Amino acid sequence: MTRAATIDARSPVPKYYQLREILLDLIEHELAVDTPVPSERELAARYGLSRMTARQAVEHLVSEGRLYRVQGKGTFVAQPKIDIPLRLTSFTEDMRARGMTPGAADLGRRTVAASAAVARELGLAAGDPVHVIERLRTADGVPMALERSHLPASLVPDLLERSWRNQSLYEVLAREHGIILDRGDQVIEAGIADSGDAGLLDLAPGSAVLLLQRRCWAGEAAVEYVVSTYRADRYQLRASLDVSLRA
Ligand code: GLP
Repeated sequence: MTRAATIDARSPVPKYYQLREILLDLIEHELAVDTPVPSERELAARYGLSRMTARQAVEHLVSEGRLYRVQGKGTFVAQPKIDIPLRLTSFTEDMRARGMTPGAADLGRRTVAASAAVARELGLAAGDPVHVIERLRTADGVPMALERSHLPASLVPDLLERSWRNQSLYEVLAREHGIILDRGDQVIEAGIADSGDAGLLDLAPGSAVLLLQRRCWAGEAAVEYVVSTYRADRYQLRASLDVSLRA
């Protein structure tokens, strides 16, 4: 550690929080991803804190996803999180823009009768045929998200006749069906991975995830309703905030 940061015992800011800020600075400016941070014992000695205070700071950063622990080995710097794009981009485009290689594993595809809920999202009648495509999305081979897309079968009848391994749905829609998505909406909420999804995403059961529901259209036609599960340890939400004077 090269920075001469110290804990101010007279500050109203709790000591564990001051140590958290010092560690955050190190994580962001000095330590590479996957390198160890000093042990709680070392931190306590270096900053004149109790072990408990050092542990509290480290635990905070673990729960924020900035550090991760490996049993018996120590605590390491986690990868920075990826911003969920708030635009109508595809996973493929987004990963390529970040210099990562997008991937997709085909977990299943079938045509089913739309449930009332799915029919409502796609503007169909319950029972109308919808194609369901389930994929595990990867970035540089690492599992990032599960996506369950529903598309009206009448719009793209032969969509399931291909493998979806490492394919971009939006590219296939554009290239082979002339469907260019031009509008969408998205809901993002917190969730917990069930054991099936956790296994596929390489997470411990009960881990936090982000649940996304997206609907998109091409002109007047509703094209896709997708329910996605994104790893909360790898993704975060960033939004720009406008000050609006109008109600
Ligand atoms: C994002 C969206 C999904 C969409 C997918 C298409 O991941 N969250 O709703 O289905 O992009 O991506 P691609 O064209 O790479 O298959």
